[in-house]
Amino acid sequence: MERLQAAMEKARAQRDQTSPTSAAPAAPAEHPPESKQATSTTPPKEEWQLPPALSVDRKLLHRNRVTTVEGGLDSAPFDLLRTRVLQQARQNEWKRIAIVSPHAGCGKSTATANLAFGLSRQSNLYSLIFDFDLRRAGLTKIMGQRLNDSMAAVLERKIGFQSHARRLGTNLAFGLNGGPKAKNPSEILQNSMTTEVLDEISAQYEPDIMLFDMPPLMASDDNFGFLQNVDCALIMVAAEQTSMSQIDVAERHVAELTNVMGIVLNKCRYSSGAHGHEYDYY
Ligand SMILES: Nc1ncnc2c1ncn2[C@@H]1O[C@H](COP(=O)(O)OP(=O)(O)OP(=O)(O)O)[C@@H](O)[C@H]1O
Ligand SMILES: [Mg+2]
Repeated sequence: MERLQAAMEKARAQRDQTSPTSAAPAAPAEHPPESKQATSTTPPKEEWQLPPALSVDRKLLHRNRVTTVEGGLDSAPFDLLRTRVLQQARQNEWKRIAIVSPHAGCGKSTATANLAFGLSRQSNLYSLIFDFDLRRAGLTKIMGQRLNDSMAAVLERKIGFQSHARRLGTNLAFGLNGGPKAKNPSEILQNSMTTEVLDEISAQYEPDIMLFDMPPLMASDDNFGFLQNVDCALIMVAAEQTSMSQIDVAERHVAELTNVMGIVLNKCRYSSGAHGHEYDYY
């Protein structure tokens, strides 16, 4: 218990050091965190073996535009995004990354699922992926998962994360949503208990990366209450759907709450990519 407390305090102190500054990505840290490369031969940490395994329906995932399960040509665009995200995270010592967008349908949940499978192929990297859209549970649907409980129950301490999580291999775990919809998502997300539960999960699992698939910024106050819990946010926008003023407002709102990691232009129709859904990253 004391060890957990100490680890939580360390995690909090690390997060407090990376306070939001401006819309521009922060300057690279002088000492990027050590890569787990050096310890890649050590067996996976016990915690990562405990959650039940995720069952994966590859055909469904492919239908839902998740192309990164196996790597190769199909996964190249999202693997590139994964690598850019990891580089920025390491440079700035950011671990907790929210995926946000100004309005619905920009591709946040699809991108989160693709990033997750890309991250899982990096065996030396430990990642936790959360569906924090407690209203629509888009990531959970894309993954075709049926669960009895939601992350809301974890955040309210009604159930433990370990039994709720679904692990992919032994270096990645999902926190997804099932069961009855949460009645008060925005209150849950801004509750200090959510901060404590996330700190406990961080202390127990010691992940390198935590991704949070969020609801759209303008649809509710869910993000506004929660974003102080993350180190940065990646803003997804949709080509030919998101206006410049929506991007501008979203960037300003996010920058008030956390660091802006970047803006991803998704759903580009005109591209040379094999699937015609390349994105641009600034
Ligand atoms: N790069 C892409 N090209 C074309 N269609 C895409 C792309 N990414 C996602 N989509 C499609 O856009 C729709 C919305 O995607 P998704 O659910 O991932 O968006 P979202 O931002 O999570 O939406 P919400 O705000 O409602 O949670 C889905 O039908 C998805 O298949
Ligand atoms: Mg979504």
